Amino acid sequence: MNSVKSLKTKDLLGLQGMSLEDLNLILKTAHSMKEIFTRPVKRVPPLLAKNIVTLFYEPSTRTRTSFHTAAKMLSASTQSVALSTSSVAKGETLIDTCKNIEAMGVDALIIRHSMAGAPHLVAKNIKASVINAGDGFNEHPTQGLLDIFTMLEKARTLKDKHIVIVGDIAHSRVARSNIWGLRALGAKVTVVGPPSLMPKDIEKTGAVVSYDIDKAIKDADFINVLRIQKERQKIGYFPSIEEYAQLYGLNSERLSRAKKDVVVMHPGPINRGVEMTSEVADSLQSVILEQVTNGVAVRMAVLFLLLGGKK
Ligand code: CP
Repeated sequence: MNSVKSLKTKDLLGLQGMSLEDLNLILKTAHSMKEIFTRPVKRVPPLLAKNIVTLFYEPSTRTRTSFHTAAKMLSASTQSVALSTSSVAKGETLIDTCKNIEAMGVDALIIRHSMAGAPHLVAKNIKASVINAGDGFNEHPTQGLLDIFTMLEKARTLKDKHIVIVGDIAHSRVARSNIWGLRALGAKVTVVGPPSLMPKDIEKTGAVVSYDIDKAIKDADFINVLRIQKERQKIGYFPSIEEYAQLYGLNSERLSRAKKDVVVMHPGPINRGVEMTSEVADSLQSVILEQVTNGVAVRMAVLFLLLGGKK
């Protein structure tokens, strides 16, 4: 908390191209932030007098609540723009909306949008910090960071650790942010899913592609299971949900053939019985709720390093 460091950038838009120094700084700061959870008074003052607004053009439970909780723990004031009752419903553009919010003295805008690149566009047009809370299929950087933070709580280093990401890789911003961050830290990443949900050129990220989950998870240290994003699938990418669950779903029988100490993760929300059975989601190997807790610590670190770290 006495850090005099801050991120080199005004915004947090993605993990692609983030310097190792910034990546490690966020992870280290998140570790300090998590200690605040254990205090009887879960409040510290570094962002007192800072105004933070969340602007979500897509639904969210975890990310939005987590950002608000993180900001409040750092004593910032927060507001959420409700899109259905805002002037977005009257056709106001994204940039006009953000410029108007900034004109009220806002220090950081946290944006989720269905269009890849929307937060980047806003960041170019306003002086306030912009944090990407998920843009289309592109990135979800704080989810990537909290996943990596959770893995680092289980393993001292991620160098040469094997992380298997399972599911709808094509539509997953979580997969992309995980891959960029994990590769930067020297982890081996395998992406596995049906060919129809595997994006072209994903190997260029350094990830290895597999279509056989049983083979891929055999020596995995972490299995990060993705949600099947029904809302982004305009056509059927697999014949039926039952078939997907049978071929790629993580169940106890399949998991029993992986390493005994393999850690199971999921960014949420879970389609129980589709990408993962309840037995696996609620098992001792699952750290899904730890991921949610760590999300607050990581978002505190990001807000602190963007808005308060220089002080
Ligand atoms: N993991 C995640 O982004 O969850 P929400 O959509 O609920 O924010």
